[in-house]
Amino acid sequence: MLSADQKATFARDGYLVLPGFKAAAEIAAARARAAAIVDAFDPAEAGVFSTRDQGARVDRWFLDSGDKVRCFLEEEALDPAGRLRQAKALSVNKIAHALHDLDPVFDRFSRADPLPALAADLGLARPLIWQSMYIFKQPGIGGEVRWHQDASFFVTDPITVTTFWFALEDATRDNGCLWAEPGGHRGPLRERFVRAGDATRLETLDPTPWPDQASAVPLEARAGTLVVFHGKLPHYSAPNRSAVSRHAYTLHVTDATAAYAPGNWLQRGPALPARGFAPH
Ligand code: FE2
Repeated sequence: MLSADQKATFARDGYLVLPGFKAAAEIAAARARAAAIVDAFDPAEAGVFSTRDQGARVDRWFLDSGDKVRCFLEEEALDPAGRLRQAKALSVNKIAHALHDLDPVFDRFSRADPLPALAADLGLARPLIWQSMYIFKQPGIGGEVRWHQDASFFVTDPITVTTFWFALEDATRDNGCLWAEPGGHRGPLRERFVRAGDATRLETLDPTPWPDQASAVPLEARAGTLVVFHGKLPHYSAPNRSAVSRHAYTLHVTDATAAYAPGNWLQRGPALPARGFAPH
């Protein structure tokens, strides 16, 4: 489905912006389903209100979420006493990480045409969708995501991870759109997030500094736009201090022809193996 020009742009810049990729009805269905999931979420389950062993419970909430649908709160959602500062619906940072496999609405959203053809055009011969995230970037408290490369979290040999980032609302400089370094995917992988049992650590692989602001470009995107980018593309997003949210949905996809590292935090067992874009 990509033209030769679009493939060349992806190879050169490490990303491609596809406006109008998702129809308004698909976006509305995804947003309504996300709102229902948050409505059913009890923040106490996530351990965020417990003072004793809070860190351990929050870690478990994350580490066990690779094959589940779980809500995570914004860092600034709680007051010093551990209470929500504002309505629950305005406090959730994201829903993750197996929406695409466990929720019928997000299963459809994640595998609808022309996604299988697009993945093939991007060079994913045998795609595996490891992770889905519905990101809220809430008004006022939507947190910053510092410079990083997604391949740090999904190591394969060779590197194959590709990110699919769907704008569900207009993403602008005001509400925390993505920023990326064009061509930066041709540089080294700087870090690697490693899990050993219940312990995780961020290892430095290469001391190359992160890009400075002058070489970053904002990827402003209207609702319905799909941004696809290479796993080594350096990117970040600023905090959202504006009055409007910036909902987005992401998929992280590797190629099964490349070995998936056993040290990656997200592993799938036989009960719910990672699979590609083909419908059930
Ligand atoms: Fe990222």
